[in-house]
Amino acid sequence: MTKQEEILKLKTEKNAVILAHYYAEGQVQDIADYVGDSFYLSKVAAKLESDIIIFAGVRFMAECAKMLNPAKTVLLPDERADCFMAHMIDNEYIKQMRQQYDDLAVVCYINSTTETKTYADVCVTSSNAVNIVKKLPQKNILFIPDKNLGRYVAEKVPEKNFIFNDGFCPIHEHMRMEQIQELKQEHPQAEILAHPECNEAIIKIADYIGSTSGIIDYAANSNKQEFIIATEIGVKHKLEQDALSNKFYFTARVPKCLNMKLNTLENVLQALKNGGSGIEVDRELAKQAVKPLEKMMELA
Ligand code: 13P
Ligand code: SF4
Repeated sequence: MTKQEEILKLKTEKNAVILAHYYAEGQVQDIADYVGDSFYLSKVAAKLESDIIIFAGVRFMAECAKMLNPAKTVLLPDERADCFMAHMIDNEYIKQMRQQYDDLAVVCYINSTTETKTYADVCVTSSNAVNIVKKLPQKNILFIPDKNLGRYVAEKVPEKNFIFNDGFCPIHEHMRMEQIQELKQEHPQAEILAHPECNEAIIKIADYIGSTSGIIDYAANSNKQEFIIATEIGVKHKLEQDALSNKFYFTARVPKCLNMKLNTLENVLQALKNGGSGIEVDRELAKQAVKPLEKMMELA
């Protein structure tokens, strides 16, 4: 039996479902029941009937799935898979801002720890942040932890007053605009599609800005054939599946999230066999942290 066949067999026997983010390896995306961006995956996770959820993503995603499904077993194939950005906020800073501003909404990117979420009013993802922030009654918005997504949302919602944090995704922040421009010179017909976690210089020259799903949908529905993609390399798998004849260019320094790449066929299989790394979230923390997640579901 191949690994894929073993996974499919065990998945049925154990009533398990596999969720994979677009940044996971192509092989892992192929054996998943659901593949998508962070918002899609959290919506799916909230409604699953299975006994076991295997989350081929990073820790904050698996913790959200657990909070939305406390009775289910949620497994992260490799317990080291974490998101750097999730730890780039000092919760004391949030408390200070709460004291400093009346009429403040703490808007927390889902790429954050469970503890940080306990201080938030609402969670957002890159695909719903603009819409959700527009709907909030508060004038002042503390956007955490990502400075780049925060800046992007602030430009789209000029009627609000934004307070930022200095967190970032190293993969998107360190992507070089010069390398994108070189690609554009080599392929002048190509459109630049960028994730809002990218640094400001790249966002300024992008033709389209959106979540991983947004980028994939845009390319699939465009009448162009060439695209410069400013996000993590994992999206290439779905982009090519959707349109084999299209060309997708990534920067010479390949944007790769090593944490997402910890999800392999081998450890998905091991998780199914041995229970892998079971996600536990402290009950008291979960009670608070699930509130901004539910608020996101309500507003999005
Ligand atoms: P989306 O898939 O929601 O665009 O998120 C990107 C990301 O960085 C996930 O960690
Ligand atoms: Fe976190 Fe960036 Fe990796 Fe996404 S790509 S999981 S934001 S480190």
